[in-house]
Amino acid sequence: MTTLRSAALGPLCTTDAVHKAQATLALDLRLPVGRTERLSPSAPIPGRPARPELIAHTLLKPKPLTTVEGRALLVHSVAHIELNAIDLALDVVWRFPDLPEAFYTDWMRIAQEEAKHFMLLREHLCSLGYDYGDFPAHNGLWEMAERTQDDVLARIGIVPRTLEARGLDASPGVKNKLIGAGDHEASQILDLILEEEIGHVAAGNRWYRHLCEARGLDPAATYAQLIAQYDAPKLRPPFNMAARRRAGFDDAELAALG
Ligand SMILES: [Fe+2]
Ligand SMILES: [Fe+2]
Repeated sequence: MTTLRSAALGPLCTTDAVHKAQATLALDLRLPVGRTERLSPSAPIPGRPARPELIAHTLLKPKPLTTVEGRALLVHSVAHIELNAIDLALDVVWRFPDLPEAFYTDWMRIAQEEAKHFMLLREHLCSLGYDYGDFPAHNGLWEMAERTQDDVLARIGIVPRTLEARGLDASPGVKNKLIGAGDHEASQILDLILEEEIGHVAAGNRWYRHLCEARGLDPAATYAQLIAQYDAPKLRPPFNMAARRRAGFDDAELAALG
């Protein structure tokens, strides 16, 4: 019988980016979850297209936003993050068994929102005369998925609550750059994405606290330990405090940002 968790492997293994997004959007959230199933992928994960070429993020150089190419490069980099976000959410669904059913439906809904984000950005990229794959990109997000593949607490503690939360911080700056370059359509897409990303980080916070409670761990002390153990990227200002507050970070967590 097809379950929601086993169905997540389909788009995760899909190599073509647009097909991956479409297959994710086509997943039926009403499938039985299969929360106790032990699954393994039958193809390498994540499935990735031949392009973009993946290079070290230090080698990625921005181009002036006064040119269409520069704007397309920026939109491409966000589209690449969204494609990775599809894989990251699907990976949570199939990999970690024995969690409440709502955990899986939350992450499947998030995967579908990421697929929508990717499609919106890719469509905009096409309107600029480019396509996904036309610029190099980095593999930093999936590397963190691999590092945290053995522990759902580490995965949820670090990926949504640290990496996706950094996306909340980065959003206003990217949006202002695009407005400055006259690309109001892209800035509207970023507004929509930010709203939904707040929900993703909120889900991360909710499930992180649930997992800590289930293991009798203190969320703050455990987070500090996870950051050190998994060498998570350092948080740097400016922070989007309003978005972080809406995403469920508490006063102590916001104060700790400085
Ligand atoms: Fe997204
Ligand atoms: Fe997200």
